Amino acid sequence: MEKKNLDWGNLSFAYMPTDYRFVAHYKNGAWDEGGLTTDSMCTMSECAGVIQYAQTCFEGLKAYTTKDGRIVAFRPDLNAERLMNSADRLMIPQVSKEMFLRAVDEVVKANAAWVPPYGSGATLYIRPCLFGCGPVIGVAPAPEYEFRIFCTPVGPYFKGGIKPIRLLLSQYDRAAPHGTGDIKAGLNYAMSLYPGHVAKDRGYSENMYLDAATRTNVEETGGANFLFITKDGVVVTPKSDTILPSITRRSLVYIAEHYLGLKVEERVVPFSEIKDFAECALCGTAAVISPVFAVDYEGGSIEFPSGSEKMGPVTQKLRETIVGIQEGTVEAPEGWIRTIC
Ligand code: PLP
Ligand code: COI
Repeated sequence: MEKKNLDWGNLSFAYMPTDYRFVAHYKNGAWDEGGLTTDSMCTMSECAGVIQYAQTCFEGLKAYTTKDGRIVAFRPDLNAERLMNSADRLMIPQVSKEMFLRAVDEVVKANAAWVPPYGSGATLYIRPCLFGCGPVIGVAPAPEYEFRIFCTPVGPYFKGGIKPIRLLLSQYDRAAPHGTGDIKAGLNYAMSLYPGHVAKDRGYSENMYLDAATRTNVEETGGANFLFITKDGVVVTPKSDTILPSITRRSLVYIAEHYLGLKVEERVVPFSEIKDFAECALCGTAAVISPVFAVDYEGGSIEFPSGSEKMGPVTQKLRETIVGIQEGTVEAPEGWIRTIC
């Protein structure tokens, strides 16, 4: 199979339509088999649930080329489970794990020419989405749904690659207590667009959000969870019911404990404590693990000792290990890697 002629090393995190996508429909109470199509356009009612009431959720995962030339996905079963949770909360019929994994396999295999080569620094980002496409005018679940998975080759999520970034402590909230912060609902991201614009307009890469109830504890950013490292090398990550349960964060916690022998604390992290940490990083599928250099707030700034030039030593080790597992140079825990072809 001949790879597409792309400048793999200079890709940004942007959408580029590839050859195939998987599409299935839910109608009269059941999902059809679904299958591959070359049509990148969605056609639906003007009164579709997704258009009127944002009845939509999504996932994000990646495929990698390993050193020995296989194409693999990282823990796609966890994305399937999280999509089921998101669907339940939004009154969308679940997509089974079996259909989800079959769709991931089919899309990646069909687009193998778009999977960035080993060592290029790029990956294939896979975007499953699930939305109400049938008409609904009273506020109610839509009668019909579409499940679609497309993929696109991507480079680093933050401009500048893995250079430490600066964050703004947001004046806005991302998720309410007992709301939808713990699922991957499209509406969460629509609500983060204005705060994201405010931050970017002021020269920041992203926002740090606090908990909406007390505005004292660190939650997450618009698209990634936080990891902090104490001066004694303990990994600390915020525990909250209103953040997305990041698969990358859960994996890094395991790696910290079982590969690097580090102590991990998953607990409430008061904003007032973060000035004491040695390192700070964002983690997620798109972000991988991206170092944070500073967090600015009204009237002050916190700068981490790891500095603005390179990531701190613990962040670096976590990154090398997870990327090694994804690219097949470090042995993976049982069940983490799905070989697609
Ligand atoms: N938090 C939010 C709000 C996200 O959108 C994402 C991205 O999926 C993450 C965290 C990271 O989650 P994961 O590691 O599963 O990609
Ligand atoms: C991801 O990391 O997959 C995300 O969904 C984050 C962002 C692109 C929304």
